[in-house]
Amino acid sequence: MKPLFIIANWKSHMTTSEAETWLEEYRVLSVSLDLTDKKIIICPPFPLLAFCKAFILKHNLSLSLGAQTISSFDEGAYTGQVSARLVKDFCEYTLIGHSETRKYFHLTPEDIANQVKQARAYQLSPLVLVGDTQEKLPEGVDIVMYEPPSAISSSEHPQIPTPQEVEAAVGLLKAQNNVVYVLYGGSVSAKDVAAYTRLQEVHGVIVGAASLHPSSFIDIITNA
Ligand code: PGA
Repeated sequence: MKPLFIIANWKSHMTTSEAETWLEEYRVLSVSLDLTDKKIIICPPFPLLAFCKAFILKHNLSLSLGAQTISSFDEGAYTGQVSARLVKDFCEYTLIGHSETRKYFHLTPEDIANQVKQARAYQLSPLVLVGDTQEKLPEGVDIVMYEPPSAISSSEHPQIPTPQEVEAAVGLLKAQNNVVYVLYGGSVSAKDVAAYTRLQEVHGVIVGAASLHPSSFIDIITNA
């Protein structure tokens, strides 16, 4: 059976002490969770990765970590960039091409391809987000997330696709690209998560706003 990926995207939220409170609450609440065939990944901001990793190891939690992006370049004279070579000490995954990263940092298809290459070079699994079902992904991407920017909860008037629309979009993406897993993202909540995860071709979800509170994130994991 293919695992169900449930990914928390904390975006630019959380301080160290807020992350500690989140993890502590998650630790307590997750004791009774059945995580058979479920892979839970949290993507905190860069400065919190080391702290989260230490907490997870100390408490032996079934949580994996991902970065929210990586540099398109290897290490070098790239002020402000965080390389895959550095990030791989703290996590196994990295998001690539989130629509907010594309929009605010003007990522080009070449940047996306270089980030995938960097991730692969340093044994990070790239989790690539796309909103356009026609997008041709670079080689080496196993996990793709279909997330139309208009479906994100913080967009002005979120338009959430129906499960049928997601199913059709996933079919189009798979026709274009040789990927193993396709996930859905955009305003996912405990109420509607199962409508997406029960689709044959959807292998999980990425959750933004509803992942910021451990209890709502746990409800999503439970219902998925
Ligand atoms: P949302 O964010 O769940 O708040 O819509 C998802 C994302 O941007 O990855």
